[in-house]
Amino acid sequence: MHYTNLKPFPKDFLWGASTSAYQVEGAWDEDGKGKSVIDMMEHPEGTAGFTVASDHYHHYKEDIKLFHELGLKAYRFSIAWTRILPEGTGTVNEKGLAHYERVIDELLRYGIEPIVTLYHFDLPYALEEKGGWNNRETIDAFVNYARILFEHFGGKVTHWLTINEQNTLILHPGAVGIPKGGSLPSKKELYQQNHHMLVAQGKAMSLCHELCPQAKIGPALNMTSMYQATSKPEDAIAAHNWEVLRGWSFLDLAVHGRYNRLLWSYLEERGWIPAIKEGDLLAIQQGQPDFIAINYYSTATIAESTGDASDVSPRAGDQQIMLGEPGVYRPEENPYVDKTKYGWVIDSVGLRLTLRKVYERYQLPIIITENGIGAPDELTEDGAVHDDYRIDFIQAHLEQIQWALSDGVEVFGYCPWAAMDVVSTHQGYAKRYGFIYVNRGEFDLKDMSRIKKDSFYWYQRVIASNGNEGLSQRT
Ligand code: BG6
Repeated sequence: MHYTNLKPFPKDFLWGASTSAYQVEGAWDEDGKGKSVIDMMEHPEGTAGFTVASDHYHHYKEDIKLFHELGLKAYRFSIAWTRILPEGTGTVNEKGLAHYERVIDELLRYGIEPIVTLYHFDLPYALEEKGGWNNRETIDAFVNYARILFEHFGGKVTHWLTINEQNTLILHPGAVGIPKGGSLPSKKELYQQNHHMLVAQGKAMSLCHELCPQAKIGPALNMTSMYQATSKPEDAIAAHNWEVLRGWSFLDLAVHGRYNRLLWSYLEERGWIPAIKEGDLLAIQQGQPDFIAINYYSTATIAESTGDASDVSPRAGDQQIMLGEPGVYRPEENPYVDKTKYGWVIDSVGLRLTLRKVYERYQLPIIITENGIGAPDELTEDGAVHDDYRIDFIQAHLEQIQWALSDGVEVFGYCPWAAMDVVSTHQGYAKRYGFIYVNRGEFDLKDMSRIKKDSFYWYQRVIASNGNEGLSQRT
């Protein structure tokens, strides 16, 4: 659909940026913090670990000042569960609460709205040792943890996110790290974990509405659209299979509180139906999201499964590299799009399509809580970082958001990944995303100084003009 005039960004649009606790904070064992699964898992050799990260824990004041200079209206970050409850349950660590209180107050002082993710991949290791999300007790642990945050910060935080990318945790558990010893949970276990997370999420959303009536809460999923490789009808079925299993099945539960029928048939056929206790579905149904948060990086192209092992990509999948599954779908190349150095498809138009589909299906306001391009940014001799590829990437995606707004989609914010350089989930500091460069190498911590990249100045101009400058106004 073409328009003569594109709709402007809403005047209260939340121009933001994102990080997550374990990828940015460092201070992994300070001030009473307990160990999380991230601290205990095996990570690729030769890449930076998460112990120091970008040392945001100690530099948060300087960083927030820079976010203010950037013009951010919102900062999306996660709270480390293990700073609040080092063992996942039990005694509250007051120093952890005090830290986030300072961070939130500092943001509010600058007029930056905190958007808080309750849980971004870093489950307390003490809970993992008791079975993690396989264990139903983790549901109560999560709800108890959420209650502490709602009671403590409910008057200051108006946007909460429940679980970051539950679909990544279930479909690509290795993306978060490999448990020591090397084995990942079975698919049956993963779908049981999924069910427990959904119950926990439903209860947390209900609790948020009860304790913080002025606040809004929603799930944050990694969403994408699937293209069928050809006009062959079987390719269309395969693309639909994977679009449902990877995205809709998670959101259907979070929003409508019911298992998607196709997911159910898939689970039934394989003997993976989770154990569901009385009251679970009601808890999922009662927890109603106020909005949907999506993390969007790329699209995928899908063909009919050949039914044998050749469907599975020889290169291990990750959040954005589709693995393939015999009898379900097979990933294909898309000749119409580029890829990042790490093989992630670059497809800004796919964002417009994804926004349209999510909105059409759920009719809830949408915020984009991640979107960005990972690259081995270089600090050049002139003391700058010339990341024009990041400007191109974000510009193209913002333009497509404007098209989606013009299509009638309610998008109320954009928080690209990342506010500043953070440790990538598997590629350390070789793969950077931020508007602010952190001067450290994989292992050489250098001076950790913060350097504004070219994209910083560009995004600053976009925000200051509410999207009127820095984008090409194509119609
Ligand atoms: C998202 C995660 O899936 O992708 C982030 O929520 C992650 O935690 C981001 O960092 C980018 O992925 P990566 O693997 O390039 O760090």
